[in-house]
Formats: sequence, structure tokens, C-alpha cells
Amino acid sequence: MRLISLDEYRHQTMQLARPVFDKQNRVLLAEGRRIHPVFLKRLLELDIRYIFIEDAVSKGITMEEMVDMPTWMDAIAVIKKCFEAVREKKPIPVKEMQKIVKQLTDEVYKRSAIVLAPTTFLSEELRLYAHAVNVSLLSIFLGKKKGFTNLQVKDLAMGAALHDIGKAESGDITDHPTRGFEILKRINEMSLLAAHCAFQHHEAFDGSGVPRKLAGKNIHEYGQICSIANDYENLVSIEGFTPHYALEMIMTRSGIKYREDLVSLFVQQIPFYPPGTRLMLNKGQEAIVVKITNNIQRPYIRLLATEEELSLAEHPTMLVTKVIVDKVPQMEELELERG
Ligand SMILES: [Fe+2]
Repeated sequence: MRLISLDEYRHQTMQLARPVFDKQNRVLLAEGRRIHPVFLKRLLELDIRYIFIEDAVSKGITMEEMVDMPTWMDAIAVIKKCFEAVREKKPIPVKEMQKIVKQLTDEVYKRSAIVLAPTTFLSEELRLYAHAVNVSLLSIFLGKKKGFTNLQVKDLAMGAALHDIGKAESGDITDHPTRGFEILKRINEMSLLAAHCAFQHHEAFDGSGVPRKLAGKNIHEYGQICSIANDYENLVSIEGFTPHYALEMIMTRSGIKYREDLVSLFVQQIPFYPPGTRLMLNKGQEAIVVKITNNIQRPYIRLLATEEELSLAEHPTMLVTKVIVDKVPQMEELELERG
């Protein structure tokens, strides 16, 4: 299995490895099917940009680093319910949130590395909620690596999953963190620290953030974790950058927008080259990443010409010179401050 952009799809050689969902979260096209050209048009209309496919190049790649798809879709549905509740001025389904956050945490703890399904794998209507799930997954992962207690991870995961809940009332970049904080702090079962994830996820380490221009230690660690996770997720999902490029962008803001120790930990733990990534090596060989092993940035690969599989960790003279992608994003397209 590998993730491709829709324009890379070839009817003759590829079939779906994961279903395609419609706006209502229902299966539009089932796993195992080929996409009829008429349906391709329909997917473009829904603005679905990525699909998971199976083909000869990706055989044997299981992407176990990716969270179980039904759990991911369930989490999206629960977060959507929370947003709808706020819009309708009804109580947030806290119990359901607690249950799904626990499931997301279990999913993360089962894995040694995390690979995200980009939100552009779904139709536009679901992306805000899928973004929230991804930010929560990344935050849980960082919390786990920081050695947080179960209670700390629970608060962080809940806060990260609802970091943008203020957008149910206001789409404004400065306004929605405050609205989110106000919404979450009123909920008895919600810890105040979880509410601060919403309040502080657009603050910056150097004091240039919003809404309160907090700086340094005045920003809670959970706020900084959510900020890194939020920006990374937007770079990968909205901007369509490769994980490697997105991590580079995060690193350029280390010590400026984010705490250095958190950035270091983050870039050590998120794979530059997730399974399914096509690579160009220094000896001119083309390869595909098969799986992530203990040495996260030196994955297990397959050479496309010979089908030989090997671990880059055990081949120190083999260097990655390029990630093979169809579209290389331009710097001026960047908009990191996006909500
Ligand atoms: Fe936001």
C-alpha cells in the first residue's frame, strides 16, 4: 500500500488499498476496487486529493505506522459532533470524547512511529475534524516520548483534539483560541490544562503569537506541543509537503516559534520518509520505503530495479538524495500561520 495524489492514479495498474469516503463519512468506493474514470471526476469534485492504493511497486508495504482507519474515522465523527454541539449551543459529548481519545492513545502506544493519513484524503467538509484527530495523535506521540503520565497524556490528547473548537463560533485566527478556551473551561469533566491547549496553540516561544503574546516559560508545554503538531499537520495536509520538507520547516522555527527541546524530540521521532515514499539514492538507484525500523530516519527500503530489500541503517554509504514527488512546493506558497 502507498499514498498517491489523485493525478498519479493509473486505472490499469492500481487498486484502492483503503476505502474512499464521502462528505458524510460513508464509504464511497470500497477497498480492493479500481476507480472508474467517471468516479475519478467525482473524487475531484469532492476535492479528494490523495488515495491509498495497492500496485506492483507498493506490494508488501502494510503501513502499520498509520492508525487503524476505522478508529481514525470514528474519531473524526465524534469531533464533528462536538463542533455541531457548540454551533447548536448544546453540551459537548464529553463521554464519547473521553472514549475516543483513549482509543487514539492506545493506537499511538501500540506503535513505535506514527505516520499520518493527510486530511486531503477526505472531502473538504471533514478536514477540520480530521486535522484535529491528527493533531491529537501527534501530541499524544510527543507526550509519550516526553514520558508523560497517563493523566497528562489524557489531558493533552483531549485538549489537542479540541484545540480548534473555538472555530465553531469564530474562524478568526486571534479569536478562536480564546473562544475555544471559554468553551472548554466551562465543561466540568475537562481539565483546565486541556482548555489551555486551545488557548495557547497559536502562541509563539518568542512572544510573537496570538492571542496574548505569551513568551518562553509562560506558555504551557501542552500549548507548545499543540502548536508544533498543529503546524506540522497543516504543512503536510493543507500545503501537501512531504514529511521531510515539513519537518525542515518546523526546524527553521526552533527557538523562535517553538521550544528547542520539543522540536528536537519531534524531528527525531517523526519519520522523514514514511512507508510508500519513493526515494532517489546517491548511486542513482530508485527505491521505495517498505517499513520504519528502530533507526527511524534510516528505514527499510526496496530497490525498484532489483527488488532487493535492505535496511538503510545497515548501509551507511547509501544516502537519500531526493524524495520523488510529482509536485515540489514553492516557498512562497507557505502560510504557516494558518489556523
Ligand atoms: Fe487554530
